[in-house]
Amino acid sequence: MGKKLRIGVIGTGGIAHPHARGYMSHADAEIVGAADIVPGKARAFLDEFGLAGAKAFDSAEELIRNVEMDGVSVCTYNTTHAECAIAALEAGIHVLCEKPMSFTVAEAADMVRASRRAKKILTIGFQPRYDRMRRKVDELIGSGALGKVYYIQSGGGRRRGIPGGTFVDKAKAGYGCLGDIGCYSIDECLHAVKYPRPLTVSAVATDYFGKNPKYWPGADDFDVDDFSVALVRMENDVTFVFKQSWAMHADSLGDTLWLGTEGAVKIKNGYDAGSAPSRVMYYTDVNGMNVDSFVLPSVPFDSTWEPRYSDMFDMKVWDFCDAIIEGRPAPVPGEEILYNQAICDGIYRSSKLKKEVEIEIPDISV
Ligand SMILES: NC(=O)c1ccc[n+]([C@@H]2O[C@H](COP(=O)([O-])OP(=O)(O)OC[C@H]3O[C@@H](n4cnc5c(N)ncnc54)[C@H](O)[C@@H]3O)[C@@H](O)[C@H]2O)c1
Repeated sequence: MGKKLRIGVIGTGGIAHPHARGYMSHADAEIVGAADIVPGKARAFLDEFGLAGAKAFDSAEELIRNVEMDGVSVCTYNTTHAECAIAALEAGIHVLCEKPMSFTVAEAADMVRASRRAKKILTIGFQPRYDRMRRKVDELIGSGALGKVYYIQSGGGRRRGIPGGTFVDKAKAGYGCLGDIGCYSIDECLHAVKYPRPLTVSAVATDYFGKNPKYWPGADDFDVDDFSVALVRMENDVTFVFKQSWAMHADSLGDTLWLGTEGAVKIKNGYDAGSAPSRVMYYTDVNGMNVDSFVLPSVPFDSTWEPRYSDMFDMKVWDFCDAIIEGRPAPVPGEEILYNQAICDGIYRSSKLKKEVEIEIPDISV
């Protein structure tokens, strides 16, 4: 490739660092600018990476106005993803936006419409999609080996893992645990079955650990969720049971599970999971026999897997760059993650109203 992709980074805090490393290790990309609302922070960030020639600004608008760019990473707080992503898209710049896509589902829809109008990529930063075992799980379920998948449950969860910082500041994060790690669980469970349309949800979100000074030093100011559970009804009679926690008195909220009419896949979680030959199990029936198999991590990966792709944070950034260069669609399309965001929105509304609610999916036609 002749000219390198010109890249900007908006928001230069924690996650911007792996983004920068990803761009700097891509042969056809260069970082030409950065912006952060904390004065001096963008300059310090660029200098940390030895990017003296790249330009620093105190706002996304100034960066977008003053520097010619092909793509940007939006690495700001959740509540400012939409404004930064839309400003870039409207200026004709491709966007890799960190997860969760936004705070409100209305913002997420605005982002999708902006990308459609501009005909530019809007991809969301779910790097676990590039995890090798996750790809095997997606491939196994995508093969149809499970028959009709009728029940999905998320698993895992943290025993003591309230992250602090801007993650527990409602004005900046919007969501707590749900927006931090819940959106990953939703993506893991639903991407494997190609995101059926969610219809209704009955949910509860709580804050028993964040509000307790015994478990969290900032308890007085804690105003987001640290646990949530939901029953989501989806199109084609798929039931999704979601749960996620930042803190609890257990090793796990259970296994991640896809139940189908011909087979099932389970990702084992908790203390015992590590001692098994693999955390991923496949169950089926052969001539009336119950057959259980471990999906081994040592299984060779398919020929389309490039060996240089070893780090999923790099891969997320490289795939964004390659999609721009090759004219491919967004690797993790905003349209798809709109459903993820709509489920998060429904979980909060249902919990607040203490009843089942319809999941609202805005019209994204332009
Ligand atoms: N993919 C992952 O594994 C992963 C990991 C951590 C965080 N994240 C996500 O990345 C985002 C940022 O998280 P973080 O830990 O880096 O937070 P952070 O607080 O360390 O950094 C965010 C930065 O954005 C800046 N900022 C906020 N609004 C801005 C605006 N309008 N314009 C320019 N700069 C702005 C802040 O000043 C701050 O420096 C969050 O959405 C979070 O969910 C993703």
